Amino acid sequence: MASTDPNDVFVPTFSRSGSPLVRGEGMYLFDADGKRYLDFGSGIAVNALGHGHPAIVAALREQGSLLIHSSNLYFTQPQLELATALSAKTFGGKVFLCNSGTEAIEAAIKFSRKWAAQTSKEKYHILSFFRGFHGRTYGALAATAQEQFQEGFGPMLAGFHYAAFNDSAATKAILDKHDYAAIIVEPVQGEGGVNPASREFLQFLRDYANEKNIALVFDEIQCGMGRTGTLWCCEQYGIVPDILAAAKPLGGGLPLGAVVCKDHIARAISPGNHGTTFGGNPLACALGCVVLNIISQPVFLSAVVNNGAALKNGLAALAASHAGIKEVRGRGLLVGVEMNKDPKELIPLCKEKGLLLIKAEQNTVRFMPPLIVEEKNIKAALAMFEQVLVQCKL
Ligand SMILES: Cc1ncc(COP(=O)(O)O)c(C=O)c1O
Repeated sequence: MASTDPNDVFVPTFSRSGSPLVRGEGMYLFDADGKRYLDFGSGIAVNALGHGHPAIVAALREQGSLLIHSSNLYFTQPQLELATALSAKTFGGKVFLCNSGTEAIEAAIKFSRKWAAQTSKEKYHILSFFRGFHGRTYGALAATAQEQFQEGFGPMLAGFHYAAFNDSAATKAILDKHDYAAIIVEPVQGEGGVNPASREFLQFLRDYANEKNIALVFDEIQCGMGRTGTLWCCEQYGIVPDILAAAKPLGGGLPLGAVVCKDHIARAISPGNHGTTFGGNPLACALGCVVLNIISQPVFLSAVVNNGAALKNGLAALAASHAGIKEVRGRGLLVGVEMNKDPKELIPLCKEKGLLLIKAEQNTVRFMPPLIVEEKNIKAALAMFEQVLVQCKL
């Protein structure tokens, strides 16, 4: 007899249950039983414009009827437009388009190694940071310094090293030991527990990379694209990377990733060195143009700053009356609430109440609503979260 547990048809890579989701509208998702959820996870920081945004739906229809795929053997109009906008809205670099965050990191690793190999065969080492997260394919996984993700998948790629985040002295000691091609860092670590880098730390990395001719890679796959209140998170630090990686919200819900590289790195790459069949396909790029255009508007970004402050202040007020909360931290609409113990029971209870939240490391609950969130949604989310805190006596 056929099983009735939907998990039985999947390789168990995810732990999930409940009625399947069937529809989204603005800040809300609806399941097959008609239950409504306030979305404070944005499909893991993807749905920046919420669900069913009219400009995204219109672009889908228009580009869908024109051209969906043609391969990277030819230019397409949406791809040209998106690459031009990404270059203009960063540091004027060269763009490579792919399908996901992990692919963007693979490209960043490969481009930096190819560039560094021009200087020396030994210059292939890559530094990343504990609690960072860069993806699941082997290059990105090797850069993800968390045992839980690497365990059982060894051996990892050679030449990857890890240092303590926000610790310049410890980082210098590890950097001094090898000849590095790249340093990869998230300006705000997302999966690792919502940990913002200090300005001094990123400045130290920038200075060291300049001095030793190392590619500084900012992984802005989670913290970029307006999430922290500026188009790119690094703008708040006043520090420019050599390679910037973006993905998640870029495709408006379709798979799309990008790296923007400074010219000297791009010049090390020749046709055939790297590639992708689907990366930067016209449909995803048409949505990317819409998302990038809306998110870049100063009025949109200042709403993110204001709503982020309202969310953080509201959570800080809850922390003052609930001993179960250890710390509230984050930037813009990427906010983490660290609990005194594992919040694994808290998140399903919030879902039951109609609020979707996502766990991160360090016993942290992540609040990362679509960037179109309004004050009334924040109030509703805080009220449901508080009810669950009370219910759990936290
Ligand atoms: C900072 C960061 N880098 C890379 C990735 C990997 O992205 P993807 O899941 O699209 O491969 C993630 C995903 O959570 C991320 O948060």
